[in-house]
Amino acid sequence: MTSTRSATEADAAAIARIYNEGIADRLATFETEPRSPDDIAHILKERTGRWPTVVVERDGTVIAWAGASEYRRRPCYAGVAEFSVYVSRADRGAGAGRAAMEALVAACEQRGLYKLVSRVFPENEASRKLLARVGFREVGTYRRHAKLDGEWRDTVIVERLVGEAAD
Ligand SMILES: CC(C)(COP(=O)(O)OP(=O)(O)OC[C@H]1O[C@@H](n2cnc3c(N)ncnc32)[C@H](O)[C@@H]1OP(=O)(O)O)[C@@H](O)C(=O)NCCC(=O)NCCS
Repeated sequence: MTSTRSATEADAAAIARIYNEGIADRLATFETEPRSPDDIAHILKERTGRWPTVVVERDGTVIAWAGASEYRRRPCYAGVAEFSVYVSRADRGAGAGRAAMEALVAACEQRGLYKLVSRVFPENEASRKLLARVGFREVGTYRRHAKLDGEWRDTVIVERLVGEAAD
């Protein structure tokens, strides 16, 4: 059975494992250095009470996570969050990404955030499909936004209004 809940520091190792698979795949992020469970525990602690992280469990095992973080320091953007979503390699394509994003959007709404934004590599069909499915709009494409393994990569900007702003 699949369920979603807020992440706790006890999930740090599972979140790191799933994130590191996504980093290794080179299809999801410009990050190239794997994260340790301690790195993740530190991030979760810093975000507590302000930026939600959710996990998806199947039969008691964490198979996916999604998290929100600060978009910009400027006070006018305090209600805007960046987000990430990662599903364990073995569990992709079975609805866990969608469950994670639906739970994250609900958690962000509950905290009074009004917008989620991110960037997706154009080649990341699974992510683009998932995000369209859960109500994200593709705003446009940043050309040559950064280099990954020495190669320029474009990114597609995505946004979704939540809560009152979405009405
Ligand atoms: C992108 C990712 C989060 C999607 O999660 P998922 O659990 O695999 O996706 P879901 O099973 O919830 O599917 C959501 C939608 O995307 C579609 N989809 C999933 N995988 C797909 C693929 N490989 N190609 C095309 N569409 C795909 C599904 O059909 C579904 O659409 P539908 O409801 O119209 O049928 C997951 O594949 C992943 O973790 N990838 C590596 C990390 C990553 O890219 N993260 C996003 C960074 S921006």
